[in-house]
Amino acid sequence: EVKNVLVCGGAGYIGSHTVLELTRQSDSTVYILDNLSTGYEKTIPKSDRVVFINGDVSDVDFVDREVFSKYKIDAVMHFCALIVVPESVTNPLKYYDNNVVGTLRLLQVMQKHEVPYFIFSSTAAVFGIPETSPIDPSAATVPINPYGETKLVVERMLRWCSEAYGLKFASLRYFNACGADKEINIGECHKPESHLIPIILQVALGQRENVQVFGDDYNTVDGTCVRDYIHVTDLATAHIRALEYLAKGGKSDVFNLGSGLGYTVKEVVDACRKVTGHPIPAVVSPRRGGDPDSLVAGSKKAEEVLGWTRKYDSIEKIVETAWRWHKNNPHGFDHAH
Ligand code: UFG
Repeated sequence: EVKNVLVCGGAGYIGSHTVLELTRQSDSTVYILDNLSTGYEKTIPKSDRVVFINGDVSDVDFVDREVFSKYKIDAVMHFCALIVVPESVTNPLKYYDNNVVGTLRLLQVMQKHEVPYFIFSSTAAVFGIPETSPIDPSAATVPINPYGETKLVVERMLRWCSEAYGLKFASLRYFNACGADKEINIGECHKPESHLIPIILQVALGQRENVQVFGDDYNTVDGTCVRDYIHVTDLATAHIRALEYLAKGGKSDVFNLGSGLGYTVKEVVDACRKVTGHPIPAVVSPRRGGDPDSLVAGSKKAEEVLGWTRKYDSIEKIVETAWRWHKNNPHGFDHAH
Protein backbone atom coordinates (compact mmCIF):
# COMPACT_ATOMS: atom_id res chain seq x y z
CA GLU A 1 0.00 0.00 0.00
CA VAL A 2 1.24 3.46 -0.89
CA LYS A 3 0.76 5.60 2.21
CA ASN A 4 3.52 8.17 1.98
CA VAL A 5 4.51 9.81 -1.28
CA LEU A 6 7.56 12.05 -1.56
CA VAL A 7 7.23 14.72 -4.25
CA CYS A 8 10.63 16.20 -5.05
CA GLY A 9 10.15 19.57 -6.70
CA GLY A 10 6.57 19.67 -5.42
CA ALA A 11 6.56 23.48 -5.24
CA GLY A 12 7.21 23.89 -8.97
CA TYR A 13 4.72 24.18 -11.80
CA ILE A 14 3.96 20.54 -12.62
CA GLY A 15 4.94 19.32 -9.13
CA SER A 16 2.48 21.63 -7.37
CA HIS A 17 -0.38 20.53 -9.61
CA THR A 18 0.52 16.91 -8.89
CA VAL A 19 0.57 17.54 -5.13
CA LEU A 20 -2.90 19.04 -5.46
CA GLU A 21 -4.21 16.05 -7.43
CA LEU A 22 -2.68 13.67 -4.86
CA THR A 23 -4.71 15.44 -2.17
CA ARG A 24 -7.82 15.15 -4.37
CA GLN A 25 -7.41 11.72 -5.93
CA SER A 26 -5.56 9.66 -3.31
CA ASP A 27 -5.46 9.05 0.44
CA SER A 28 -1.68 9.32 0.61
CA THR A 29 0.20 11.71 2.84
CA VAL A 30 2.33 13.93 0.61
CA TYR A 31 5.85 15.02 1.57
CA ILE A 32 7.22 17.86 -0.54
CA LEU A 33 10.98 18.28 -0.84
CA ASP A 34 11.85 21.52 -2.60
CA ASN A 35 14.67 24.06 -2.28
CA LEU A 36 12.44 26.82 -3.72
CA SER A 37 15.05 27.67 -6.36
CA THR A 38 12.35 27.83 -9.01
CA GLY A 39 9.36 26.74 -6.92
CA TYR A 40 7.08 28.78 -4.67
CA GLU A 41 6.01 28.05 -1.13
CA LYS A 42 2.64 29.68 -1.87
CA THR A 43 1.72 26.66 -4.02
CA ILE A 44 1.77 24.28 -1.04
CA PRO A 45 -1.73 23.27 0.09
CA LYS A 46 -2.57 23.87 3.73
CA SER A 47 -3.55 20.37 4.72
CA ASP A 48 -2.59 17.97 7.49
CA ARG A 49 -1.86 15.48 4.71
CA VAL A 50 0.85 17.69 3.23
CA VAL A 51 4.30 18.16 4.81
CA PHE A 52 6.81 20.62 3.37
CA ILE A 53 10.56 20.02 3.74
CA ASN A 54 12.77 22.85 2.51
CA GLY A 55 15.96 21.32 1.17
CA ASP A 56 18.02 20.20 -1.79
CA VAL A 57 17.42 16.79 -3.33
CA SER A 58 21.13 16.30 -4.07
CA ASP A 59 22.15 16.85 -0.42
CA VAL A 60 22.40 13.17 0.48
CA ASP A 61 22.93 13.62 4.23
CA PHE A 62 20.05 16.04 4.57
CA VAL A 63 17.69 13.93 2.48
CA ASP A 64 18.64 10.77 4.36
CA ARG A 65 18.25 12.41 7.78
CA GLU A 66 15.31 14.75 7.28
CA VAL A 67 13.24 12.74 4.83
CA PHE A 68 13.83 9.01 4.49
CA SER A 69 14.97 8.34 8.08
CA LYS A 70 12.10 10.35 9.53
CA TYR A 71 9.24 9.13 7.36
CA LYS A 72 8.55 5.77 5.78
CA ILE A 73 8.36 6.87 2.16
CA ASP A 74 6.67 4.35 -0.16
CA ALA A 75 7.07 6.15 -3.49
CA VAL A 76 8.95 9.08 -4.97
CA MET A 77 7.82 11.43 -7.73
CA HIS A 78 10.78 13.41 -9.02
CA PHE A 79 10.12 16.80 -10.62
CA CYS A 80 13.35 18.63 -9.70
CA ALA A 81 15.10 19.67 -12.89
CA LEU A 82 16.49 22.57 -14.82
CA ILE A 83 14.41 22.88 -18.01
CA VAL A 84 15.70 25.77 -20.12
CA VAL A 85 16.91 24.24 -23.39
CA PRO A 86 19.15 27.11 -24.62
CA GLU A 87 20.77 27.40 -21.18
CA SER A 88 21.54 23.67 -21.31
CA VAL A 89 23.35 24.24 -24.61
CA THR A 90 25.59 26.99 -23.19
CA ASN A 91 26.07 25.33 -19.77
CA PRO A 92 25.74 21.55 -20.14
CA LEU A 93 27.64 20.70 -16.95
CA LYS A 94 25.12 22.64 -14.89
CA TYR A 95 22.40 20.43 -16.43
CA TYR A 96 24.29 17.17 -15.92
CA ASP A 97 24.98 18.18 -12.32
CA ASN A 98 21.42 19.12 -11.45
CA ASN A 99 19.43 16.69 -13.60
CA VAL A 100 21.69 13.64 -13.65
CA VAL A 101 23.80 13.82 -10.48
CA GLY A 102 20.87 15.16 -8.45
CA THR A 103 18.74 12.19 -9.51
CA LEU A 104 21.59 9.74 -8.93
CA ARG A 105 21.97 10.99 -5.34
CA LEU A 106 18.24 10.68 -4.75
CA LEU A 107 18.21 7.11 -6.10
CA GLN A 108 21.12 6.18 -3.82
CA VAL A 109 19.25 7.29 -0.71
CA MET A 110 16.10 5.57 -1.97
CA GLN A 111 18.04 2.36 -2.47
CA LYS A 112 19.44 2.55 1.07
CA HIS A 113 15.89 2.85 2.41
CA GLU A 114 14.48 0.29 -0.04
CA VAL A 115 11.87 2.61 -1.54
CA PRO A 116 10.16 0.54 -4.26
CA TYR A 117 8.49 3.06 -6.62
CA PHE A 118 9.81 5.98 -8.66
CA ILE A 119 7.92 8.25 -11.07
CA PHE A 120 10.23 10.31 -13.24
CA SER A 121 9.54 13.56 -15.10
CA SER A 122 10.95 13.03 -18.57
CA THR A 123 10.36 14.99 -21.74
CA ALA A 124 9.58 14.88 -25.44
CA ALA A 125 13.05 16.38 -25.84
CA VAL A 126 14.51 12.85 -25.54
CA PHE A 127 13.36 12.25 -29.15
CA GLY A 128 15.30 15.10 -30.77
CA ILE A 129 14.00 15.42 -34.31
CA PRO A 130 11.47 12.60 -34.57
CA GLU A 131 11.01 10.60 -37.75
CA THR A 132 7.33 9.86 -37.19
CA SER A 133 4.25 11.73 -36.03
CA PRO A 134 2.59 11.05 -33.67
CA ILE A 135 5.65 9.80 -31.80
CA ASP A 136 5.40 6.34 -30.33
CA PRO A 137 7.22 5.85 -26.99
CA SER A 138 9.36 3.20 -28.69
CA ALA A 139 10.64 5.68 -31.32
CA ALA A 140 14.37 6.36 -31.51
CA THR A 141 15.74 8.68 -28.83
CA VAL A 142 18.36 11.02 -30.25
CA PRO A 143 18.30 14.24 -28.22
CA ILE A 144 19.57 17.39 -29.89
CA ASN A 145 20.35 19.35 -26.72
CA PRO A 146 21.89 18.64 -23.30
CA TYR A 147 18.53 19.12 -21.56
CA GLY A 148 16.98 16.18 -23.44
CA GLU A 149 20.20 14.21 -23.07
CA THR A 150 20.20 14.54 -19.26
CA LYS A 151 16.64 13.23 -19.12
CA LEU A 152 17.55 10.31 -21.39
CA VAL A 153 20.59 9.47 -19.23
CA VAL A 154 18.29 9.19 -16.22
CA GLU A 155 15.79 7.04 -18.15
CA ARG A 156 18.63 4.63 -18.98
CA MET A 157 19.98 4.72 -15.43
CA LEU A 158 16.50 3.80 -14.19
CA ARG A 159 16.32 0.82 -16.49
CA TRP A 160 19.58 -0.61 -15.13
CA CYS A 161 18.50 0.13 -11.56
CA SER A 162 15.24 -1.71 -12.12
CA GLU A 163 17.13 -4.74 -13.45
CA ALA A 164 19.75 -4.70 -10.70
CA TYR A 165 17.78 -3.63 -7.65
CA GLY A 166 14.18 -4.31 -8.58
CA LEU A 167 13.25 -0.62 -8.49
CA LYS A 168 9.86 -0.09 -10.14
CA PHE A 169 9.77 3.07 -12.23
CA ALA A 170 7.61 4.90 -14.72
CA SER A 171 9.24 7.49 -16.91
CA LEU A 172 6.70 10.05 -18.11
CA ARG A 173 7.66 12.08 -21.15
CA TYR A 174 5.71 15.29 -21.09
CA PHE A 175 5.01 17.12 -24.29
CA ASN A 176 4.09 20.83 -23.83
CA ALA A 177 2.72 21.27 -20.32
CA CYS A 178 0.41 24.27 -19.99
CA GLY A 179 -2.71 25.62 -18.29
CA ALA A 180 -3.48 25.94 -14.59
CA ASP A 181 -5.72 24.37 -12.00
CA LYS A 182 -9.30 25.48 -12.62
CA GLU A 183 -10.09 26.23 -8.96
CA ILE A 184 -7.00 26.73 -6.83
CA ASN A 185 -4.74 29.74 -7.38
CA ILE A 186 -1.64 28.03 -8.76
CA GLY A 187 -0.23 28.27 -12.27
CA GLU A 188 2.75 28.59 -14.56
CA CYS A 189 5.40 31.07 -13.48
CA HIS A 190 8.95 30.95 -14.79
CA LYS A 191 11.44 33.76 -14.32
CA PRO A 192 12.37 34.68 -16.97
CA GLU A 193 9.43 33.28 -18.94
CA SER A 194 10.28 31.42 -22.14
CA HIS A 195 7.15 29.32 -22.76
CA LEU A 196 4.77 30.23 -25.55
CA ILE A 197 1.37 30.44 -23.82
CA PRO A 198 2.49 32.52 -20.78
CA ILE A 199 4.34 34.88 -23.16
CA ILE A 200 1.25 35.33 -25.33
CA LEU A 201 -0.88 36.00 -22.23
CA GLN A 202 1.64 38.60 -21.06
CA VAL A 203 0.88 40.45 -24.31
CA ALA A 204 -2.85 40.26 -23.50
CA LEU A 205 -2.06 41.71 -20.05
CA GLY A 206 -0.19 44.63 -21.63
CA GLN A 207 3.16 43.48 -20.25
CA ARG A 208 4.66 42.93 -23.69
CA GLU A 209 4.10 44.72 -27.00
CA ASN A 210 3.86 41.55 -29.08
CA VAL A 211 4.71 37.90 -29.32
CA GLN A 212 7.61 36.85 -31.50
CA VAL A 213 6.84 33.85 -33.68
CA PHE A 214 10.14 32.02 -34.01
CA GLY A 215 10.23 31.02 -37.66
CA ASP A 216 7.47 30.59 -40.25
CA ASP A 217 9.32 28.43 -42.75
CA TYR A 218 9.00 25.07 -40.99
CA ASN A 219 7.57 22.06 -42.77
CA THR A 220 4.07 22.42 -41.25
CA VAL A 221 0.61 23.56 -42.39
CA ASP A 222 1.29 27.27 -41.81
CA GLY A 223 5.08 27.20 -41.51
CA THR A 224 5.17 27.62 -37.71
CA CYS A 225 6.18 24.85 -35.30
CA VAL A 226 3.63 22.26 -34.24
CA ARG A 227 3.48 21.22 -30.58
CA ASP A 228 1.24 19.01 -28.47
CA TYR A 229 -0.18 21.12 -25.62
CA ILE A 230 -1.26 19.07 -22.63
CA HIS A 231 -3.06 20.44 -19.56
CA VAL A 232 -0.99 20.32 -16.39
CA THR A 233 -3.85 18.76 -14.40
CA ASP A 234 -4.05 15.92 -16.92
CA LEU A 235 -0.29 15.46 -16.57
CA ALA A 236 -0.65 15.42 -12.79
CA THR A 237 -3.34 12.75 -13.01
CA ALA A 238 -1.02 10.58 -15.11
CA HIS A 239 1.44 10.43 -12.19
CA ILE A 240 -1.24 9.05 -9.91
CA ARG A 241 -2.32 6.47 -12.51
CA ALA A 242 1.34 5.48 -13.01
CA LEU A 243 1.88 4.97 -9.30
CA GLU A 244 -1.31 2.90 -9.01
CA TYR A 245 -0.12 0.83 -11.96
CA LEU A 246 3.28 0.10 -10.38
CA ALA A 247 1.73 -0.61 -6.97
CA LYS A 248 -0.54 -3.18 -8.62
CA GLY A 249 2.53 -4.96 -10.00
CA GLY A 250 2.86 -3.23 -13.38
CA LYS A 251 6.29 -3.43 -14.97
CA SER A 252 8.68 -0.52 -15.24
CA ASP A 253 8.18 1.40 -18.47
CA VAL A 254 8.28 4.69 -20.36
CA PHE A 255 5.20 6.61 -21.51
CA ASN A 256 4.48 9.63 -23.68
CA LEU A 257 1.99 12.13 -22.28
CA GLY A 258 0.30 14.43 -24.75
CA SER A 259 -3.10 15.01 -26.29
CA GLY A 260 -2.24 13.52 -29.67
CA LEU A 261 -3.24 16.85 -31.24
CA GLY A 262 -0.77 19.27 -32.73
CA TYR A 263 -1.24 23.04 -32.87
CA THR A 264 0.96 25.48 -34.73
CA VAL A 265 2.32 28.57 -32.97
CA LYS A 266 -0.10 30.68 -35.06
CA GLU A 267 -3.03 28.51 -33.98
CA VAL A 268 -2.06 28.93 -30.33
CA VAL A 269 -1.90 32.71 -30.78
CA ASP A 270 -5.36 32.61 -32.40
CA ALA A 271 -6.78 30.54 -29.54
CA CYS A 272 -5.40 33.09 -27.07
CA ARG A 273 -6.95 35.95 -29.06
CA LYS A 274 -10.31 34.20 -28.90
CA VAL A 275 -10.11 33.50 -25.17
CA THR A 276 -8.74 36.89 -24.08
CA GLY A 277 -10.48 39.14 -26.61
CA HIS A 278 -7.15 40.94 -27.04
CA PRO A 279 -5.69 41.45 -30.56
CA ILE A 280 -2.24 40.06 -29.45
CA PRO A 281 0.08 41.39 -32.16
CA ALA A 282 2.47 38.75 -33.47
CA VAL A 283 5.70 39.37 -35.39
CA VAL A 284 7.58 36.73 -37.30
CA SER A 285 11.17 36.47 -36.04
CA PRO A 286 14.12 34.24 -36.93
CA ARG A 287 14.03 30.58 -35.91
CA ARG A 288 15.08 29.70 -32.38
CA GLY A 289 17.91 27.14 -32.22
CA GLY A 290 16.99 23.49 -31.73
CA ASP A 291 13.25 23.62 -32.49
CA PRO A 292 11.96 20.51 -34.32
CA ASP A 293 9.18 21.15 -36.90
CA SER A 294 6.63 19.07 -35.08
CA LEU A 295 6.27 17.19 -31.77
CA VAL A 296 3.02 15.30 -31.29
CA ALA A 297 2.64 12.54 -28.73
CA GLY A 298 1.38 9.07 -29.34
CA SER A 299 -0.22 8.62 -25.89
CA LYS A 300 -2.14 5.39 -26.55
CA LYS A 301 0.22 3.38 -24.38
CA ALA A 302 -0.39 5.64 -21.37
CA GLU A 303 -4.14 5.40 -21.98
CA GLU A 304 -4.19 1.64 -22.39
CA VAL A 305 -1.57 0.57 -19.86
CA LEU A 306 -2.11 3.20 -17.16
CA GLY A 307 -5.81 3.81 -17.75
CA TRP A 308 -5.01 7.51 -18.18
CA THR A 309 -7.76 9.79 -19.47
CA ARG A 310 -7.65 13.52 -20.16
CA LYS A 311 -10.16 16.12 -19.04
CA TYR A 312 -8.99 18.89 -21.37
CA ASP A 313 -9.39 18.22 -25.05
CA SER A 314 -9.11 21.61 -26.73
CA ILE A 315 -6.52 24.33 -26.79
CA GLU A 316 -9.19 26.97 -25.97
CA LYS A 317 -10.20 25.20 -22.76
CA ILE A 318 -6.56 24.88 -21.74
CA VAL A 319 -5.86 28.54 -22.48
CA GLU A 320 -8.96 29.58 -20.48
CA THR A 321 -7.45 28.06 -17.33
CA ALA A 322 -4.06 29.67 -17.99
CA TRP A 323 -5.74 33.02 -18.67
CA ARG A 324 -7.66 32.89 -15.39
CA TRP A 325 -4.39 32.34 -13.49
CA HIS A 326 -2.49 35.07 -15.37
CA LYS A 327 -5.31 37.62 -14.97
CA ASN A 328 -5.53 36.95 -11.24
CA ASN A 329 -1.75 36.91 -10.82
CA PRO A 330 -0.21 39.27 -13.38
CA HIS A 331 3.09 39.17 -11.46
CA GLY A 332 3.06 35.44 -10.81
CA PHE A 333 3.58 34.37 -7.22
CA ASP A 334 5.38 37.55 -6.19
CA HIS A 335 2.17 39.27 -5.19
CA ALA A 336 -0.12 36.25 -5.10
CA HIS A 337 -2.43 35.96 -2.13
N1 UFG B 1 7.71 30.08 -29.44
C1 UFG B 1 7.55 31.25 -30.14
N2 UFG B 1 7.66 32.42 -29.47
C2 UFG B 1 7.93 32.49 -28.14
C3 UFG B 1 8.09 31.28 -27.42
C4 UFG B 1 7.97 30.09 -28.11
O1 UFG B 1 7.32 31.23 -31.35
O2 UFG B 1 8.04 33.61 -27.60
C5 UFG B 1 7.56 28.80 -30.14
C6 UFG B 1 8.78 27.91 -30.05
O3 UFG B 1 9.71 28.23 -31.04
C7 UFG B 1 8.15 26.53 -30.19
C8 UFG B 1 6.77 26.69 -29.55
O4 UFG B 1 6.52 28.08 -29.52
O5 UFG B 1 7.98 26.24 -31.54
C9 UFG B 1 6.71 26.18 -28.13
O6 UFG B 1 7.79 26.72 -27.39
P1 UFG B 1 7.97 26.55 -25.81
O7 UFG B 1 9.25 27.24 -25.44
O8 UFG B 1 6.72 26.96 -25.13
O9 UFG B 1 8.10 24.98 -25.61
P2 UFG B 1 9.12 23.95 -26.27
O10 UFG B 1 8.33 23.14 -27.24
O11 UFG B 1 10.34 24.57 -26.81
O12 UFG B 1 9.65 23.15 -25.02
C10 UFG B 1 8.81 22.59 -24.07
C11 UFG B 1 9.49 22.63 -22.71
C12 UFG B 1 10.73 21.81 -22.69
C13 UFG B 1 10.47 20.43 -23.22
C14 UFG B 1 9.76 20.49 -24.54
C15 UFG B 1 9.38 19.12 -24.98
O13 UFG B 1 9.84 23.96 -22.39
O14 UFG B 1 11.21 21.72 -21.38
O15 UFG B 1 8.59 21.28 -24.42
O16 UFG B 1 8.52 19.16 -26.05
F1 UFG B 1 11.62 19.76 -23.40
